[in-house]
Amino acid sequence: MSAAGRALAIALLALAGTALADDIKPGSAFLSPQMQRQQEDEARNPGWLWVEQGEELFDRRDGTTPTCLSCHADPRQSLRGAAARYPQVDAASGKLINLEGRIEQCRVDRQKQPAFGYESQELLGLTAYVASLSKGVPLSVSAEGAAKPFYEAGKAFYQRRQGQLNLACKQCHDGLVGQKLRGDTISYGISTGYPAYRLEWNGLGSLHRRLRACSLGVRATQFDYGSDDYLALELYLAVRAKGLALEAPGLRR
Ligand code: HEC
Ligand code: HEC
Repeated sequence: MSAAGRALAIALLALAGTALADDIKPGSAFLSPQMQRQQEDEARNPGWLWVEQGEELFDRRDGTTPTCLSCHADPRQSLRGAAARYPQVDAASGKLINLEGRIEQCRVDRQKQPAFGYESQELLGLTAYVASLSKGVPLSVSAEGAAKPFYEAGKAFYQRRQGQLNLACKQCHDGLVGQKLRGDTISYGISTGYPAYRLEWNGLGSLHRRLRACSLGVRATQFDYGSDDYLALELYLAVRAKGLALEAPGLRR
């Protein structure tokens, strides 16, 4: 471990265990008032550019296949609330899928077109658009039935110490909430603002991109976009944040 890494680990461990999550708040609650206002202003939050592109793609015809809109008429009504129910277990395959996964499934199985690919501008745009249709809708993801084993796996991941810094998600996102780390204020690690526009990325990114940044931050394994490990973690985060309103596209430092 580098000297800087060691110093960080020591500083964090000294702080750990001070605060505990009782009243979970979304990531936006930890932004400066200026950034909070910017996030809520569609003209000033650059994430809305992706939403607009997603809305266009939603009715783009590729070859002779139906567009998204052909099957999902009046999406403001028909898809309102959909994003708040993901990740969920796909009944046909028994696999856990998130919103990105569901959109790719429609793309491949129902439009008969090649997958966009995780983190492609197209998939980010469509995901942001569909998520924006649920703005204000409380998360209501199930941890029961078929979802239970995935939830347990995600919870175990969240609590497991990892990486060279030997830190669990929980130590930062429950134990150190409100503390400063490299200019950021540590939040509860909530997913409701994703996909989010992050100034550091100079673009929109998925939740899994943010999770990869946290894994890297503690020098732990970075799992692939859409990997089973991050999907289970995403499910756990969503259940933990049950009742919080979706607010994608978020705006982050
Ligand atoms: C060393 C402390 C640390 C650890 C360990 C850590 N994170 Fe983070 N995480 C941060 C910081 C700092 C940020 C950026 C500020 C914020 O929103 O909390 C962040 C951001 C996030 C966000 C985005 C929140 C938002 O609203 O933008 C999520 C979700 C998240 N982390 C989940 C996790 C998960 C899951 C793990 C375990 C794999 C993890 N983090 C491990 C420090 C940590
Ligand atoms: C040929 C028709 C068809 C096309 C084209 C299609 N879908 Fe779907 N889509 C469906 C059906 C059927 C479902 C499953 C409905 C259900 O069971 O809730 C679905 C489910 C979804 C869901 C989940 C809804 C929910 O409530 O869980 C989303 C989101 C979605 N589609 C987005 C898209 C997007 C984005 C596109 C274009 C890339 C697209 N779909 C193209 C038929 C289609």
